Amino acid sequence: MEIAKEIRSRSTHMPLLLAVLFAQLNFVAPVFAEAYELGERLVQDQCSTCHKFQGTHESKFNLKGPDLMWAGDKYQRDWLLRWLTGKEPNLYPKGYRWDKGTRAQPHVVLSKDGAENVADYFEKNLNDARVKKNAIDLSDFSEMESGFGAKIFKEFSCLGCHQIKEDGKSIGGPISADLFDSGNRYNVDWLLRFALNPQDFTPHSGEYLADLSELGVRYIVGYLMTLGVEDYKFYEPWKTDHFKNADASRGTPIYKEYCVQCHGAKGEGDGPGASGLQPKPAAHAKMALNEFPEDYLYNVIYYGGKSVGKSPSMPDWGLTIPPQGIADLIAYLRVTFKGEPGA
Ligand code: HEC
Ligand code: HEC
Ligand code: HEC
Repeated sequence: MEIAKEIRSRSTHMPLLLAVLFAQLNFVAPVFAEAYELGERLVQDQCSTCHKFQGTHESKFNLKGPDLMWAGDKYQRDWLLRWLTGKEPNLYPKGYRWDKGTRAQPHVVLSKDGAENVADYFEKNLNDARVKKNAIDLSDFSEMESGFGAKIFKEFSCLGCHQIKEDGKSIGGPISADLFDSGNRYNVDWLLRFALNPQDFTPHSGEYLADLSELGVRYIVGYLMTLGVEDYKFYEPWKTDHFKNADASRGTPIYKEYCVQCHGAKGEGDGPGASGLQPKPAAHAKMALNEFPEDYLYNVIYYGGKSVGKSPSMPDWGLTIPPQGIADLIAYLRVTFKGEPGA
């Protein structure tokens, strides 16, 4: 009896529940579809006269504004919203089509809602299959690597065509997009794919393919991702568990395998490889390495002598010795070489 009543009373709730559910569906579905269509409509009505959203990449000299087929992958959403609501300065100092002699023009401005709708539309529809998610991991990107990227930026002519800020001032050639704020603008996966071959995005547009190694690409992309970012959080290996768990006794054989050949069995700078070298390998036995800062020792060992302004004959061991090995080696150096007694 009790059970039957219970069932009956539940079943009377059912239609009510369904009705609520339907009401919600009816309410949610059109709003969602409307927002989505709004994004699509805005793009068709207000943007497609100047931007391309479909088809293949093309020379800028056939375009009125940058191609946006990959817009769902290219930008950080916050930057895109600021751009679309008119809160970002123009990127092309001489105008996108400098060949037409048009200076940078004010861009179409959308409402906050309109911008959100367009950003949604981009994210859902304008993806680029060439862009792989998490293809580059910058969680272990160090300040030293960013410095290498900055050097590449100048040595590989990037500065010839793109402006950056140095000490608050704009420097560089103004012919393409400025990169003042690239760390707040690009989605890093897009930037990586672009860096691998810019011609896949803007062919015949004056762009340039640099002869960079895989590591060089990592340095330049990582460096660009720091630009404009306040207090970028660099990886500091000497603050990791590798250093907390470092063990000098595990470092002993590593010193023998890799360092003795130049620095000598007792660290006197007289290994068999030393005779032909100028400057000579450091005499660790005479140095108080226990007083050297860990970050300095890390950098000279991981990135080599040249990274700290010393001889390039002191190799960079970062690709050879694994992270725990480097920490163990540094522990070994610090307990073994404490300077000459009495010195
Ligand atoms: C009259 C032509 C024109 C119209 C219309 C137009 N744009 Fe643009 N857009 C440009 C030009 C030119 C640039 C490059 C401006 C610069 O940075 O100096 C640009 C830049 C952009 C960028 C940044 C591109 C990049 O990666 O450098 C985005 C995103 C963008 N427009 C989206 C839109 C959207 C969305 C609409 C419609 C709401 C729109 N644009 C309408 C001409 C136009
Ligand atoms: C000879 C001039 C030139 C040089 C040198 C050059 N670029 Fe470019 N870059 C371009 C052009 C042209 C484009 C396409 C966009 C445009 O139409 O201006 C471009 C596009 C880019 C973009 C994408 C811009 C955007 O938001 O769509 C990035 C990022 C970039 N270059 C980085 C670099 C880096 C890093 C280097 C150095 C390795 C470099 N460029 C060297 C001319 C150059
Ligand atoms: C091919 C020879 C060579 C090998 C192998 C080598 N080094 Fe060196 N190292 C040098 C030279 C040369 C210098 C001196 C650089 C200078 O004074 O400009 C040096 C300097 C140093 C310094 C002192 C830097 C300073 O600020 O004075 C340290 C620390 C060091 N090496 C550690 C190591 C460790 C650890 C290894 C093994 C993983 C190693 N080196 C392997 C050649 C070598």
